[in-house]
Amino acid sequence: MTRAEFLKMMGAGAAVLALDAVPGASLIQSANAQTTPLKKNQERLAFGLPDQEAKVDKPVTAIVIGAGSRGSVYASYSSEYSKALKIVGVADINSTRRDLMKNLYGIAPEHCFGDWKEVFNLPKFADAVIIATPDNLHYDPCMVALAAGYDVLLEKPIAQTEKECKNILKQAKKYGRIVGVCHVLRYSPYFRALKRVLDEGRVGDVLSIQHLEPIRFHHFAHSYVRGNWQSAKQTTPLILAKACHDLDIVRWLLNKPCKQVTAFGDLSFFKRQNEPAGAADRCEDCAVESQCPFSAQRIYVKQHRYLYVFDNLPKDRAAKDIKIKEYLRTTDYGRCVFRSENDQVDHYVCNMQFEDQVTASMSVEAMTSSGGRKTRIMGTKADIVGDMKTFTLTDFLTGKQYIWDEDISKLPGYEGHAGGDWGIMKDFVLAVANHDEKYLSSTIDVSVESHVMGFKAEIARKRNIVAKM
Ligand SMILES: NC(=O)c1ccc[n+]([C@@H]2O[C@H](COP(=O)([O-])OP(=O)(O)OC[C@H]3O[C@@H](n4cnc5c(N)ncnc54)[C@H](O)[C@@H]3O)[C@@H](O)[C@H]2O)c1
Repeated sequence: MTRAEFLKMMGAGAAVLALDAVPGASLIQSANAQTTPLKKNQERLAFGLPDQEAKVDKPVTAIVIGAGSRGSVYASYSSEYSKALKIVGVADINSTRRDLMKNLYGIAPEHCFGDWKEVFNLPKFADAVIIATPDNLHYDPCMVALAAGYDVLLEKPIAQTEKECKNILKQAKKYGRIVGVCHVLRYSPYFRALKRVLDEGRVGDVLSIQHLEPIRFHHFAHSYVRGNWQSAKQTTPLILAKACHDLDIVRWLLNKPCKQVTAFGDLSFFKRQNEPAGAADRCEDCAVESQCPFSAQRIYVKQHRYLYVFDNLPKDRAAKDIKIKEYLRTTDYGRCVFRSENDQVDHYVCNMQFEDQVTASMSVEAMTSSGGRKTRIMGTKADIVGDMKTFTLTDFLTGKQYIWDEDISKLPGYEGHAGGDWGIMKDFVLAVANHDEKYLSSTIDVSVESHVMGFKAEIARKRNIVAKM
């Protein structure tokens, strides 16, 4: 499948204008065009863009377990780079998604399954499995796949408890297999460049990091009030479900172990007591729907955001809108955000202390108008201010500024997590082909460590304590 076909499949006609229609792409508002005119005391950090193709002797073969949004994105790498990856099996209880993948990749009928367990009734028939099932279905398939001799690309969060995460680490070591955790941001050119300037010592010793994850009000309403991650109990708490990427990024940038954490946060807004007069169970029956920024009619019908959650949408706009309205009548996506079954916190702050008294503060916020990530890094020689499209490093001595503002729209697959989705695919394919996990910047050991920071933060928040690692 080409990039254009991929976007079409996801319901996104214009990549930049309709980024929300592409799973994961909501992280970036628009591709950054390299247009920042330089001032006298400024220099561009022109690191260039990576080649996303994994150069291997023969294609790595993989089975996709969970052919939803994420599974489709990872599988699409094989359409662009067929010499690197071949999809040879699929398991999904949703037959529409299973058949779509079967037809796209020409998968043999005997390698198309419903429930994930069926994959392992057959002797091993691929190099790797890609596990992209819901959060509560990561642990069991991963443990079974490792025991069956597969390398695994595992969606985040690794598992729902600290114990399970550590069991997966043990299982990977026991069977000598590779587990690549989909901390995809690490594989984007922006974060790779940030890491590079830190490793080159350009800011001196880092003393502190301030990191903001602005989720955006409609994204939060979609995923964490109405959608798949509305329940911390059934999935994972927001700090893991959403921000395990950010814990991982902070840990990775600092390259030091975390010692202790504190956290505060609550579900303050998206609950019954805040519903406006005239509210109803579903937006279509609400008397004040037109005044509500979270209205399902507004988000899905008018703005066509997040349509990848609805299967079998017609191409024609009028027919599509009729079908979307049907979905809003029958699924949680049409429900009032003040009357949903959600329990995820809508604002969260977490403070971390790392080795050498290095500190980091992180906020994960529902109520923001724009997305992306905003990061400030304070070092002994310079500071960095970045927004996931560009960053500026200012040297304290010379006052000179170094700007990274690469135009990532030239990168194949840039729509998925700013290039991170296909970036991880490249490194995972190389790791599997070469039997060497070092091709992955995010090995399972460190991924588990950053997840433990999240579990500890949740303990700290709930018990109002400082939690030691
Ligand atoms: N790395 C990232 O940035 C990122 C972004 C979004 C989601 N995720 C994670 O990816 C995972 C998948 O999310 P998604 O948005 O693709 O969800 P999704 O609902 O689109 O896809 C999940 C698929 O799993 C299938 N499934 C459910 N039970 C199954 C079973 N027993 N056997 C086989 N298939 C089964 C579903 O039918 C569905 O098609 C989640 O854990 C989520 O937290 C990661």
